[in-house]
Amino acid sequence: MKLLVTAGPTREHLDPVRFLSNRSTGRMGFAVAAAAVERGHAVTLVAGPVELSAPAGVKRVDVVSAREMLEAVEQYLLEHDALVMTAAVADWRPKTCSEVKIKKSVMNDVIELEPNPDILQTLRPLKGKRIFVGFAAETGDTEAEARRKLEEKGVDLIVANDVAMPDAGFAVETNRVTLFSKEGEPVTLPLQSKLDVGRALIAWIEERA
Ligand code: PMT
Repeated sequence: MKLLVTAGPTREHLDPVRFLSNRSTGRMGFAVAAAAVERGHAVTLVAGPVELSAPAGVKRVDVVSAREMLEAVEQYLLEHDALVMTAAVADWRPKTCSEVKIKKSVMNDVIELEPNPDILQTLRPLKGKRIFVGFAAETGDTEAEARRKLEEKGVDLIVANDVAMPDAGFAVETNRVTLFSKEGEPVTLPLQSKLDVGRALIAWIEERA
């Protein structure tokens, strides 16, 4: 199989040195890529700004913003059998981006934002028989949000993680995820390394490809 995986945060610049972003380190996405390579699959990894080295054998495409990530995923999607979106894509970006550092004296006290495109929703028409997996980073009613995203984003699987827990979600080596699909009841996996979560996801995809 050929898998397209996204990882890490996006950065939405206000000027060359300031940006909106989030705490994603890319660990979850790089672990999915490593688990796929381990099983002999070809992997393209679209990575936001992270400090990780890609697993050997992976084709890595570096991006910064949500719009760049959308462009890269769109460019590579059709040659892949599955898309796994672990990236924490910024939903908003500053309305304007200055080419030079904005001086403190002229900095506005309000930053105007505009929405970024939703990558999964935008590429839904290109899905065909491909398997689409989305993640859901939640801090509240995980089940309701995961089910909403399963529908709205048109994916086969939503991997929900409670990012309020200290040993799951952002910037840790472990994760505790629940799998939501249209196939039946949600399946909660035990706390385990992100590599083992990646292995479980690759097995899920292999069974359905
Ligand atoms: O990188 P780590 O430090 O290892 O952290 C891992 C993680 C917490 C980032 C990861 O496990 C995770 O939860 N990733 C999804 C984070 C997220 O943005 O969730 P969301 O609920 O906002 O988005 C739902 C899905 O839509 C995601 O698959 C996301 O990639 C996708 N999305 C979101 C926004 C957008 N504009 N386009 C999208 O396609």
